Amino acid sequence: MLAGKRILLIVGGGIAAYKALDLIRRLRERGAAVTPVLTEAGARFVTPLSLAALAGQKVYRDLFDLTDEAEMGHIRLSRSADLIVVAPATADLMARMAAGLAGDLATTLLLATDARVMLAPAMNVRMWRHPATQRNLASLRADGVLTVGPGEGEMACGEVGPGRMAEPAEIVAAVEAALGGGPLAGRHVLVTSGPTHEPIDPVRYIANRSSGAQGAALARALADLGARVTFVTGPAAVPPPQGVAVVRIETAAEMLAAVEAALPAEAAVFAAAVADWRVAEAAAEKMKKDRSGTPPALTLVENPDILARVAGRSTGRPALVVGFAAETRDVLAHALDKRARKGCDWIVANDVSPRSGIMGGAENAVTLITGEGAEVWPRLPKDEVARRLAARIAAHLGSAG
Ligand code: C5P
Repeated sequence: MLAGKRILLIVGGGIAAYKALDLIRRLRERGAAVTPVLTEAGARFVTPLSLAALAGQKVYRDLFDLTDEAEMGHIRLSRSADLIVVAPATADLMARMAAGLAGDLATTLLLATDARVMLAPAMNVRMWRHPATQRNLASLRADGVLTVGPGEGEMACGEVGPGRMAEPAEIVAAVEAALGGGPLAGRHVLVTSGPTHEPIDPVRYIANRSSGAQGAALARALADLGARVTFVTGPAAVPPPQGVAVVRIETAAEMLAAVEAALPAEAAVFAAAVADWRVAEAAAEKMKKDRSGTPPALTLVENPDILARVAGRSTGRPALVVGFAAETRDVLAHALDKRARKGCDWIVANDVSPRSGIMGGAENAVTLITGEGAEVWPRLPKDEVARRLAARIAAHLGSAG
């Protein structure tokens, strides 16, 4: 239910704008108050009168409408909402949002708001697949913007593929999840992410190529389902998502301490690429070249295995412990062995050999190993892998009660 929730609905200019009418009806049926904002292009597809009639409220259209009502009217309007929904979100509107433009009422509201924003993209399949749109989408998601859809299918322009706006029922479900009614509401989930840096001396360290992209996407997907997420991250290349509690660490030992401090949690996902070894005794001062030309010998010691420690806890073990297995060969065999050895419930296995392009890339091809067996997933964008995995975690915790 959405009783008492205030939603600002921005209707962009696309053929899918007609679905905004059904969306308003459904949101209001669940108790939400909907304030419509119609863009100039949107007004070519749907009339302000029909929007106002369904919403039972004035429709806002012009930036300068607001100044005579109250000074800074657009700021107030943008902040009065619990959620801003943009449906349909056109390629042009997404591009202007990603660039931070504020040339009309809709984009000004989007730039001025401190509320969460959800987009329901709708456009021609080629426009959706264009690198510019995908780049804008990635920037918007990194800014914490939520998305629902687009779906696949035949479109008004006659082409087939992704680009069709999500159905109103799907948008309502996403709105309910975003406003706290998600399947993981009230659950605490811990996610580790990124590489660790193990110091050699004050300026040098041992590291690995993990970008932290998969862990960040997963934390975001879990938060989108309503979970309270603690995100323990090493020095990653991608920023942590908004809406999660971020704990920044550098070394494996610090990661272990942060993880233990964050427990209890109902589920813990270990997506971090933790260094297996650290230098036994990191030098206190920068190491210098020896005149004889003999390079220094580094003595390595094993780092604590954070996943195995948490999975092996006799008290306070999360109900679901998920590990990752990044391998460069014999992925499945190593992953099965790892699941048994580390005592975790699930393993997400992937091939990180340079030929796969996965490490540091935008896509991932994983095999999920559970107690029931191995499932090979198709190669998907990392955020889609994250959404699927988050949905599986939600289903598992839901069935576990
Ligand atoms: O043994 P390997 O590093 O391949 O295991 C991968 C899994 O174990 C990942 O889930 C990783 O986050 C976790 N791990 C850990 N602590 C370590 C090493 C790995 O939590 N020291």
